[in-house]
Amino acid sequence: MEYINDADFEARRWREASLIYNSALKEIGTKLEILNDEFQHVHRYNPIEHIKSRIKTSESIAKKLKKYGCEPTIENMMKYVNDIAGIRIICSFTTDIYRLAEMLERQSDIFVISVKDYIKSPKPSGYKSYHMLVSIPIFLSERRVDTKVEIQIRTVAMDFWASLEHKINYKFETNVPEHIKEELYACARMVSELDAKMLSLNEEVHSLLA
Ligand code: GTP
Ligand code: MG
Repeated sequence: MEYINDADFEARRWREASLIYNSALKEIGTKLEILNDEFQHVHRYNPIEHIKSRIKTSESIAKKLKKYGCEPTIENMMKYVNDIAGIRIICSFTTDIYRLAEMLERQSDIFVISVKDYIKSPKPSGYKSYHMLVSIPIFLSERRVDTKVEIQIRTVAMDFWASLEHKINYKFETNVPEHIKEELYACARMVSELDAKMLSLNEEVHSLLA
């Protein structure tokens, strides 16, 4: 293959990188579907409410590399930007989160690079979620590319909180008034209470019907 110029070469490499990250999202998405189907088959219940996935835009990738003080190259992007491929799994109960994380960790082709458990240790904002950075092999015709995927697992209530907080931060361009931050923090505590209550209610129902 001949390239007319450098820009042509870069454009081609960018398309290849997009293909790889999209494939990684497909791989993880399929794994999750299988786990959910098996759970339905064995326990007659779905641990996953829904799944959202996205590829980071080239603008956000460039912004992040600039923040890290790196040149916006494809090498730097693959090396330093960990959340180009992101998948968010929304569960009903906190117990489902840990169950799913364990099931993914046990799969032999998934390598867990790091875990951030913002459920056990929420962020100062009140943000709660379970984050896993994993690497998964993508097999192309002539080579294997180990590809990073950021997985966020949270309950419906945690997701509701995070999306509102994100919108508020966006609207105020991060200069959120103090009283709104306090209200959000109070809401985060209500989210935790609601999650705990729903879980114990569900467990009670199960024990009564067992
Ligand atoms: P980023 O540079 O933002 O990716 O953060 P990081 O590398 O320190 O990773 P971290 O695991 O803390 O956060 C990664 C992602 O989690 C973010 O891109 C958001 O999607 C989400 N997140 C983290 N903190 C918050 C928060 O306080 N509020 C909301 N709404 N989302 C958050
Ligand atoms: Mg991020």
